[in-house]
Amino acid sequence: MKKLSLDRILQSQGFGTRKGCRGLIEDGDVAVGGETVTRWQTEFVPEGLAFTVFDEPWIYRKQVYLVLNKPPNYECSRKPSHHPGVHTLLPEQFTWRDVQPVGRLDHDTTGLLLLSDDGDFIHAQSHPKRHQPKVYRATLGQPADDGLVRQLLDGVKLIDEPAPIAALAATLIDPLTIEIELDQGKYHQVKRMLAAAGNHCAALARVRIGGLALADLDLAEGEWRYLDAAQLAALNADPAP
Ligand code: URA
Repeated sequence: MKKLSLDRILQSQGFGTRKGCRGLIEDGDVAVGGETVTRWQTEFVPEGLAFTVFDEPWIYRKQVYLVLNKPPNYECSRKPSHHPGVHTLLPEQFTWRDVQPVGRLDHDTTGLLLLSDDGDFIHAQSHPKRHQPKVYRATLGQPADDGLVRQLLDGVKLIDEPAPIAALAATLIDPLTIEIELDQGKYHQVKRMLAAAGNHCAALARVRIGGLALADLDLAEGEWRYLDAAQLAALNADPAP
């Protein structure tokens, strides 16, 4: 495997400009395998390299795949206008690496948000033709019965949409809580569907993407994690019944 100089490795991992990374190394702030390295020209095989910067451990990752349990009042936009951006919940190295959300959640929606700096992954996951199933748990403004479930499954007419849109699945958990499965991601889709069905979405959380369920992640609101191979595979797998 090709070796790279330590300054390039650090830069690729989001530790700033080449000049800044050389400065970190020359100042003795970087160690590899427990040994401080002060020559930025020192070369290493990057794949899987374990290093520390200011004693914080890192592992080289060519690309990063993250899941965040998004809290309310954070915006997914790169240039947020009214609330902080979700990127402020992540280490700043990820902003340097241009880690971006896969699709968007509204500022008041909570739950599963994928992020990555792999453009192909972002494109594949968010492309409408992929029809990635996603499950949302909505708190309703008014108590509902099976009539709401039927309307959502039959399809509701949204303004600006030519044909009625139906949920893949809808389950009333209790009169004020419904889970809705969709394989599209139209603007404010859940909120608009509930409004079109005569109810109101008082709160919304995304609880599953493909086979990746928030309940299985043990991730508190505001926490993030690297996706492991099994979790990445679950995104492409059929959701558990
Ligand atoms: N549907 C909505 O209305 N909002 C979201 O954030 C996601 C889906």
